[in-house]
Amino acid sequence: MAAYPSLPQHIGIIMDGNGRWAKQRGLPRAEGHKAGVKVFERISEYAAALGIPCLTFYAFSTENWQRPAAEVQAIMALFRRQLDEMEARWEENERKRFRIRYIGDLEPGGPVPEDIIRKLRDMEARARDKDKTIVNIAVNYGGRQEILRAARRAAALAAHGALRPEEISEADLEAGLYTAGQPAPDLIIRPSGELRLSNFLLWQSAYAELWFSDVLWPDFTERDLDTALEDFSRRHRRFGDIGDPPPSSLSF
Ligand code: FPP
Repeated sequence: MAAYPSLPQHIGIIMDGNGRWAKQRGLPRAEGHKAGVKVFERISEYAAALGIPCLTFYAFSTENWQRPAAEVQAIMALFRRQLDEMEARWEENERKRFRIRYIGDLEPGGPVPEDIIRKLRDMEARARDKDKTIVNIAVNYGGRQEILRAARRAAALAAHGALRPEEISEADLEAGLYTAGQPAPDLIIRPSGELRLSNFLLWQSAYAELWFSDVLWPDFTERDLDTALEDFSRRHRRFGDIGDPPPSSLSF
């Protein structure tokens, strides 16, 4: 396992290319997502072994509901299966180096099936070791919606007199994000040749390094993560300043 001079504290990963991977093999798209879940598990374990404290995987966006119903159902079935496997193999799961959290709009009454919400909240609550690498799975997630939710929370506090509107700070807004308390992602990885963020971690990735690759997600390996990490460790992060160390407040 490689050692890097500087490791990201939080990596965001857009698991893209599952559909094309399946198509190339003449398989239904759902098979690509199934293969994608295996890669998700391998990469989570590897990144945790490297000592990366936090990862976020984009699994299902607020826009993905527009996909054909059969594909949406297949992805929901994969969430269910993964949760059931975690439950059935709890002791083995507890030996893993990472623990899973779920982020996104997972309020009861929303589009995510209630049984999935119940299962995933139950899994989160049962995790014993709170010091492991955090793996966030973003489900029914949208970056703009997340910012809106945080703004509404701050507005509600202001309406109740708990915050003065002119004093609302970045920290106040960050407290309302799903990732509150976690380091901001300093590396965002998107495989499959697309060069955009697609509404992923919009607030948090303000200063993230972006890394793209043509590899389709089901073909993504530990070596690809190594390549991204090598690249990351060579980049000179300036945070809007002319050199390091980073200033305490962010500026252009
Ligand atoms: C993007 O590839 C992938 C998705 C929208 C779904 C990803 C979901 C999973 C891998 C399941 C996650 C489940 C767990 C438990 C982590 P695409 O379908 O847009 O691929 P394409 O661009 O080649 O069509």
